[in-house]
Amino acid sequence: MSLIHSYAIWNNKGGVGKSTITFHLAMRYAELHPDINVLVIDLCPQANSSMMLLGGGSSGEDQIIDFCSTATPKSVVGYLSTVISNGRGAPLPPQDEFVIKVSSYNTNAPENIFLLCGDGNLEPMAPAINETAEAKALTPSTNPWKWTQEIIKNFISHVTSSDEKNWIVFVDTNPSFSIYTQLAVSGSERLIVPINADDSSKTAASAMVALLHGTNPPHPIYGSWTYAKRAQEQNINVPKIHLLIGNRLTQFEGPATAFAALSDATATSLFSIFQNHPEYFTTRSESICNKSDFINEFSLPLRDFNTAGVVCAHLGRKLSSMKQGYYEIYGRNVKVNADKISECIIAIDTIINCL
Ligand SMILES: Nc1ncnc2c1ncn2[C@@H]1O[C@H](COP(=O)(O)OP(=O)(O)OP(=O)(O)O)[C@@H](O)[C@H]1O
Ligand SMILES: [Mg+2]
Repeated sequence: MSLIHSYAIWNNKGGVGKSTITFHLAMRYAELHPDINVLVIDLCPQANSSMMLLGGGSSGEDQIIDFCSTATPKSVVGYLSTVISNGRGAPLPPQDEFVIKVSSYNTNAPENIFLLCGDGNLEPMAPAINETAEAKALTPSTNPWKWTQEIIKNFISHVTSSDEKNWIVFVDTNPSFSIYTQLAVSGSERLIVPINADDSSKTAASAMVALLHGTNPPHPIYGSWTYAKRAQEQNINVPKIHLLIGNRLTQFEGPATAFAALSDATATSLFSIFQNHPEYFTTRSESICNKSDFINEFSLPLRDFNTAGVVCAHLGRKLSSMKQGYYEIYGRNVKVNADKISECIIAIDTIINCL
């Protein structure tokens, strides 16, 4: 039927929880909404969210190798290389030849999750995508850069219009703003931005906005050929920031407690961007007059998942299917407590309620 929303989970900073959040959101959203299809697009060459969705650990990894080592890989690389080698005028390849029904490979996954699998070859393939984007326009009506940037956007619109159900889309990304991250961003309507508690988060948040929208004034040399400038000129939809997730890990925070989602410095910096450019953010029904309104409307703390969330991701399971007890992880027995499982579920449900 149609697309409810598409979300890129991105921060121009590594290790902030993008893949873990993608995995838990997809699994839980699919479980809570059996009538809605969930599509995950893994545009990170590390393929971490694909690995978790496909059963986690070494079984997820083996499955990815199977998908990625066929002549036409059943993965993002298979799809992108087919579209690019067919060329701009050609009809698009059937999307369902590339989309994986996750429950066929991971029996713990709900039936309504679908995946365009991550692939390590996305990294060596990046120069070919760049070359396609930078090709000379042979006629005034062709625009190779825009066409390339919109490959994922078009993929999403084909998949989501070809079924009786409604769809929600989550796109996992790489921290770098490489061409494949640009495709993820250009393909999504909204951004979910995981942010850590450390000092570099303020810088990362401002850098992210500069990459998407440029700086004022633009850089005298680089300013004219940035993604931001070209996206503006060529009418590419830049996704709006929908949610900032303060993802605090145990190593920084000590025991999981309730905490403010954003550090004061990060909140100040983002609120100042919001004041100058509210159009960079999704709209809210409440008026936002000060930093505390901004924090309330746009940010959520995500508590530490503790062992429960991490074991669950490692095994590719739904949080709700976990029971208190010991689980074997790489030959070691790890204890998961029932109260921690419930806390993780509540944390993910809180995010889902804001989508
Ligand atoms: N809320 C959380 N509680 C506990 N551990 C977490 C949480 N979020 C993420 N982690 C752990 O932090 C590590 C990094 O998370 P993840 O791989 O999801 O980050 P990422 O942003 O996708 O990284 P990359 O930039 O490399 O793609 C993982 O080991 C993951 O299990
Ligand atoms: Mg990741």
